[in-house]
Amino acid sequence: MCELVGIPYEERASFLAAADAALGALVTLEEGREATHQLRTYMTALLERRRRAPGGDILSSLVRASDRGVTGEESGVDEESVLAFGLSMLVAGYRTTTMFLANAVLALLTEPDRYDRLLGDRALLPTAVDELLRFLPVQNGVTVLQARQDVTVGGRTIRAGEAVLPVLAAANRDERTFPEADRLVLDRQPNPHLAFGRGPHNCIGAHLARAQLSVGLEALLDHFPRLRLTGQPSAWEDHSPVRAPLTLPVTW
Ligand code: HEM
Repeated sequence: MCELVGIPYEERASFLAAADAALGALVTLEEGREATHQLRTYMTALLERRRRAPGGDILSSLVRASDRGVTGEESGVDEESVLAFGLSMLVAGYRTTTMFLANAVLALLTEPDRYDRLLGDRALLPTAVDELLRFLPVQNGVTVLQARQDVTVGGRTIRAGEAVLPVLAAANRDERTFPEADRLVLDRQPNPHLAFGRGPHNCIGAHLARAQLSVGLEALLDHFPRLRLTGQPSAWEDHSPVRAPLTLPVTW
C-alpha cells in the first residue's frame, strides 16, 4: 500500500505506527489527536517532495492533477483533497486488510477443520476469502449515511436529512440472503455480502483487498500448516469502525 500511494519504503514503519496510533484502540483521545496531526504533517511534506520529484505512484499523479488546476486548467482537485485522499487510501487500505487477516485466522481456527480443508484445497481460497469477509467483517458499520430525500427501507421511513448507521455485520448474517448464515461455508456461492459496503462510496480497494487477503492466507497456510488456537483473544480493537482481535494465542 505504501508503494502504491507513494510512501518511501524506508519510512513505512513510522507512518504505520502513526496510523495505528491515530485509529487504534489502545491510545487516549489526546494521543490519537497527536498522531492524526503527525500524519497530516508528514503527508503535507510528502506531497511537496512528490511535487519536486514525482514518481509513478498515486500521490504524484494527484499532485500533478492538482497543480494543473492551479495553473488554470480544469482539474477539480485541490491540495486539501489530495491530502485527504492520500491519507484515506493509506488508512483505509492498510488497517482493514491487516485487521481482517486476524479475523480470518480466528474464524478458521475456531473450527480447525475449515483451516485444514483450505490447506488441502487451495482452489477454495477465492470463495473462502469472501465467506470470511461475510462471516467476520472487519468493518461493523459504514460511514453515517444521510437521506437526501424521504426513503422507505424495511418498512421504516427515513426522512430527508435524517441519518442512519447501517450495521454491515448484521446484514451479512441475514438468513433471507445467506442460508445457514451463522455457519462458515468456505465454498458459499453466491455470496453478496456487504463487507465492502455498497453504493457510490463502496470500497474502491475491494479487488486489491481480495488479492491481498488471498496471498496472505496462502502464505499462512504454507508456513504454518499445523496452526491451532490455544486460547481466545484477550483484547479486541473495537472502538473504531474496525473490529478485530489484537492478540491471538496460537501454536504451530
Ligand atoms: C479487508 C479489506 C477491506 C475492507 C473490509 C474494506 C471495507 C470498506 C468499507 C466497508 C468501506 C465503506 C463503504 C461505504 O461507505 O459504503 C470502504 C471504503 C473505502 N475503502 Fe476499503 N476496505 C478494505 C480494503 C481497502 C483497500 C486495500 C483500499 C485501498 C486500496 C481501500 C480503500 C478504500 C477507500 C478509499 C474507501 C472510501 C471510498 C469512498 O468513500 O468513496 N479499502 N472500505
